[in-house]
Amino acid sequence: MKLNETYKVKIESFDINGYGVTHIDSKIVFVIGGVVGEEDIIEIINIHKKYAFAKLIKIITPSEMRVEPKCPYYEFCGGCDMMHIPYDEEAKIKEFRVSQTLRGLEYNMLPIIKADDIYGYRNKVMVPFCKDIDDDILYGFYEKDSHKIVSIDNCLISDDLTNKIINYICKFLNIFHISIYDELSHKGLFKEVMVRHTKLNEYMVVLVTTDNYDFSNLVDYLTKEFNEIKSIYLNINSKKTNVVLSNEYKLLYGNETIVEDILGLKFNVSPSSFMQVNNSQCEKLYSEAIRLANLNKDMNVIDAYCGMGSITLNIAKNVNKVYGIEIVDSAINNANKNKELNNVNNAEFILGPCEEKIKELANLTNIDVIFFDPPRKGCDIEFLNTVISMKIPKIIYISCNIATCARDIKILEENGYKLETVRPTDLFPRTLHVETVCLLTKK
Ligand SMILES: C[S@@+](CC[C@H](N)C(=O)[O-])C[C@H]1O[C@@H](n2cnc3c(N)ncnc32)[C@H](O)[C@@H]1O
Repeated sequence: MKLNETYKVKIESFDINGYGVTHIDSKIVFVIGGVVGEEDIIEIINIHKKYAFAKLIKIITPSEMRVEPKCPYYEFCGGCDMMHIPYDEEAKIKEFRVSQTLRGLEYNMLPIIKADDIYGYRNKVMVPFCKDIDDDILYGFYEKDSHKIVSIDNCLISDDLTNKIINYICKFLNIFHISIYDELSHKGLFKEVMVRHTKLNEYMVVLVTTDNYDFSNLVDYLTKEFNEIKSIYLNINSKKTNVVLSNEYKLLYGNETIVEDILGLKFNVSPSSFMQVNNSQCEKLYSEAIRLANLNKDMNVIDAYCGMGSITLNIAKNVNKVYGIEIVDSAINNANKNKELNNVNNAEFILGPCEEKIKELANLTNIDVIFFDPPRKGCDIEFLNTVISMKIPKIIYISCNIATCARDIKILEENGYKLETVRPTDLFPRTLHVETVCLLTKK
């Protein structure tokens, strides 16, 4: 096999990333965009010792499984990965991704919880802006593994109103010749727009710039055009960084927060709050996590990495006491307000890193169940060691990154825990990402 050479191959299966799998000279080749059962001409783009990567050049005999992507930008945009196959196949690939990553462990794998709506589900969208060669302002998403913006005007996994709001802002920027930030020269004003909304139909818009600017015109136009906008912020981020939002927020219009409903409880959502991006699937995820925990009114529970308390307050309905631990100050403020908003009096929120704060709880009371829902990098070893030393009977691990989850579960299995049940849940249809709930018990 040679780099940049083309080959005619048959795609044998899918791998855990949804790539087509074939073999050339007994070496495994992952074909980006390849679909099981079809004959393709592929070009080798990358060769490693045991495997290679290829891109699809031409489909000779299409597979019955291949579908026409609904999105015209799919080929270029880095946002979605699965639009060329049916949703049922996507769901199978996600189950395979989870089971393969957890291989070597024995447990009961429950079927993936599929989404009812595979388009229009995202409740938070961030889009960068740039100028094209004609000096027109445009926006879009980044190409895969690149900082090149693919210009779009309608994203199918965002909702209609979000698309309209972003379109409107883009027109305003063009008409008023607002200066656009250029990453290379680090000059210019306007960087990105974030739009988030809730199922109660409240919208929040965040304009991200490098400096303060009077956007009162835009705010007037936007709020007259879109009644659903309840809050507009300016976020000033002058740093040359990949982190889009700074801590400097200025409220330009309306309420500080918008309100979300999760399983019948109300949550104030601020621009920096973490909230799952797919509300209806989030409700299924939380319900499944709570079901697997088999909670009762005598139990004391910890919800580590609790964000604005959306799982914590739903756990509170079922237990004696629940402690939420979270490192972000504003999230804990939200969580405390959300606790009042819902008249919950058996939840306590603790500000600080889980690694430290869990030690205080270890000496305080007996804990029956611990939930953890860490960021993509997974749990810190110091945190896991304390959980192990506390001999907590049950762990519910919710993860958006099955690789780090598997790493942490292996540590827990080596230290007296048994992985019992795994339930993948699809919060991100049409993309590769999958959320997973795992139940572990103390042996
Ligand atoms: C994946 S989110 C989960 C939030 C919440 N459970 C939910 O479902 O909305 C992870 C949360 O962990 C918080 N976090 C990250 N590192 C942390 C740490 N070392 N200690 C406590 N919280 C942390 C983040 O700020 C974020 O709110």
